[in-house]
Order: sequence, then structure tokens, then C-alpha cells
Amino acid sequence: MNYLDAHTDLYGIIGHPVGHSLSPAIHNMAFRATGKNAVYLAFDVTDLPGAVGGIRALGIKGVSVTIPHKEAIVDLLDEIDPVARRIGAVNTIINRAGHLIGTNTDWMGAVHALKEVTELKGKRVLVLGAGGASRAVCMGLMDMGVAGLHIANRTTERAKVLAEACNASWSGLDGISGVKASILINTTSVGMTPNVNEIPISPELLPYFQVVMDIVYSPTDTRLLREASVAGCRTVKGIKMLLYQGVAQFELWTGENAPIPVMEQALRESIGM
Ligand code: ATR
Repeated sequence: MNYLDAHTDLYGIIGHPVGHSLSPAIHNMAFRATGKNAVYLAFDVTDLPGAVGGIRALGIKGVSVTIPHKEAIVDLLDEIDPVARRIGAVNTIINRAGHLIGTNTDWMGAVHALKEVTELKGKRVLVLGAGGASRAVCMGLMDMGVAGLHIANRTTERAKVLAEACNASWSGLDGISGVKASILINTTSVGMTPNVNEIPISPELLPYFQVVMDIVYSPTDTRLLREASVAGCRTVKGIKMLLYQGVAQFELWTGENAPIPVMEQALRESIGM
């Protein structure tokens, strides 16, 4: 921990629950590595308007927002940037002298993680899931100029609503065998601990994809990623998305480059890798 004194800047995460959040480990390590007099804490929040008042009153410099508050907080801040407005969710608050700005770095996390292994412009992408995370991922993909996007979801009505917002085609999870795409992204919670033997797509379909990304990061090697590896696909782990959304937050809050290797190390240590 950095030395704490009367000049220490306070940052944090608000969510419910937040006990398992990896963000405090990542951000405190980043502050320490860059010599910032700053600390990042986890706040379990059920009174959201009260918490926003607290951020203002206490001068908390920057806040991460997680489930279940990402959507509801949109109406409580002074300004929502266009990206967060389009996604309909805020995962990052920047406090500029009492003026609270909401933005979203989840899409950057996904795009940056994918771009480590593939170009996105001109590619066709199949996204499984149509929840909040999917919305951020899909908006990011559209901004990167993908040539085609298909959204498949268990609840087809949700797939349709999201597809209409981002000019994509849509279907149920059972309607994907004829979809032409080279990149597959799972945004559903299928395969997450404790249901580690579940997989959101039939493994026989995996050889058709060049790149497979899973946003599930517990376990780090989901069954989907293991099967995709066996099928010869390049894989992108969910912890990379988590890492890069945090990297983007650090850079927005401090205006400096984030110490990425240190943050990645903190993440790996917190999940016991
Ligand atoms: P998040 O913000 O993490 O995306 P969410 O909005 O609750 O969370 O969305 C969860 C996603 O996982 C949804 O696409 C959900 O499908 P439904 O819209 O049909 O609920 C999907 N999902 C969760 N459990 C699933 C399961 N057992 N099989 C298939 N899809 C599942």
C-alpha cells in the first residue's frame, strides 16, 4: 500500500456484491507502481443516489461501477459521454472538480483484447448473448468497422432489440449453424464457475472460426476456450478484457499511460494463476 496521508486521492468501485472484485488489486498495484499517492477501495452499495452524493461530497476522484448499478447510474451523473449513452451503461465515473462524468471502458477492453490477435475491420463476427456486456462489445465492434455482426441469444427478443440497435442480424442460440463468421465471442455466463463443464456452442462448430473470445474469466480457461484451442482457433481470454477495461480507466483518471504488465500480474495473482 502507498503511504496514506492527508493528500491521498481516493478511488473505488461501487457494486453489489463487490467482495469478489479484482479491480482493487489491479488499481492499487498500478498506483503503487507509478508512485501515486492514491488508494482504491471496494464499496458495497445498495443506496445508489446516496453513493453518488458521497462521491461528490467526499471528492472521490474516480469510480468503477459494476453490477447491478451500471444502467441505473446513467440518470444520476452530471454528464454521460456519447459512448456510454449509446451503450446505455456506465462502468467508469470521472470526477472533474465535482462534475461527475460517466463513461464506459468495457467496449475498449474487449476491442483491445481482440486486437492483440486479430484485425477487426472487415471481419464477420458472431456474438453469443445479448445482455449488458454484449451491448458494450457489439457497439465497440461496430465502431471498429466489422463487416457483419450476428447476435444469437437464448431469449430471441433480446437478440432482436440489440441487433436493431447495432445493425446486426440475430437469432436464437439454435440458429447459428449457417452464420458465416471468422470471430466468435461469448458474452453469456455459460461456462462460468461453478458450471465449468457448460459450453455455449456445439464444439463441432468451432473449427469454422479463426478467433474465439470468451468474456467469462472464472475459470480463466473456460471449456469454450479449451475446445477452441483444440479446434485450432486463436483464443482470447476474458481476463484480457478485464485488464484492458481497467487500463483504460487508469489512463482516463490519471492522464498517464497505465503500467500494463504490473496490472496484468496483479490480476493473475488475484485469480491464482
Ligand atoms: P451481463 O451484463 O453480464 O451481460 P445479463 O445482462 O444478465 O448480464 O446477460 C446475461 C447473458 O447471458 C444473456 O444473454 C443471457 O441470455 P438471456 O437473455 O436469454 O437471459 C445469457 N445467459 C445466461 N445464462 C444462460 C444459459 N444458461 N444459457 C444461455 N444463455 C444464458
